[in-house]
Amino acid sequence: MEELIINGNSKQEKYASVLPQIQAVMDNSVDIVANMANMAAMLHETFGFWWTGFYRVVGNELVLGPFQGPLACTRIGFGRGVCGTAWKERRTVVVEDVEQFPGHIACSSASKSEIVVPVFQNDDIVAVLDIDSDRRAAFDHTDAEFLERAVALLQA
Ligand code: SME
Repeated sequence: MEELIINGNSKQEKYASVLPQIQAVMDNSVDIVANMANMAAMLHETFGFWWTGFYRVVGNELVLGPFQGPLACTRIGFGRGVCGTAWKERRTVVVEDVEQFPGHIACSSASKSEIVVPVFQNDDIVAVLDIDSDRRAAFDHTDAEFLERAVALLQA
C-alpha cells in the first residue's frame, strides 16, 4: 500500500485528506478488527494524537481492541468512564478536560482531553473509537462529525 498523504494544516483539511484514504483501505473481505487497526493507525499518524484506538463490545463490557499509543486498560464496564458513557448514551462524547469528567478512567496521566465515538452496525453498538490528546480541549464538533463518518465505514 502507498503511504498516507496529508494535504493542508487545518483540522478540516486533514480530515478531508485522510477520510478518502481510510475509505480506500477499508476491506470488507476481512473482519472488522483488521479495518479498525488500519483506521486507528491512519488517524493516529495524521494527527499525532496521544492514543487512538477501539474498544469492542464483548458481552456486557468493552474490551480493548486495535490501538496506537501507550498501553491501556483492557476492560471497561457499561456506563463507566468516557467510553462506557458513550456506549450507554449511544452518542459521541467530547471531554475538554478529563479531570472534570466524573468517573474518567485514567489510563495515562498525560491524557488531557478525549473524544469517544460509538461504532454502530445497524442499530447495535459493536465498539467505540476512543481518542485521547495530551492537550486540553483538543476535540470539538469537527472531530465528532468526521470521526462519525470514519467509523461508518467499518463493516462487520
Ligand atoms: N479514558 C477512557 C479509558 C480508555 S483510555 O483513555 C485509552 C475512559 O474514561 O473511558
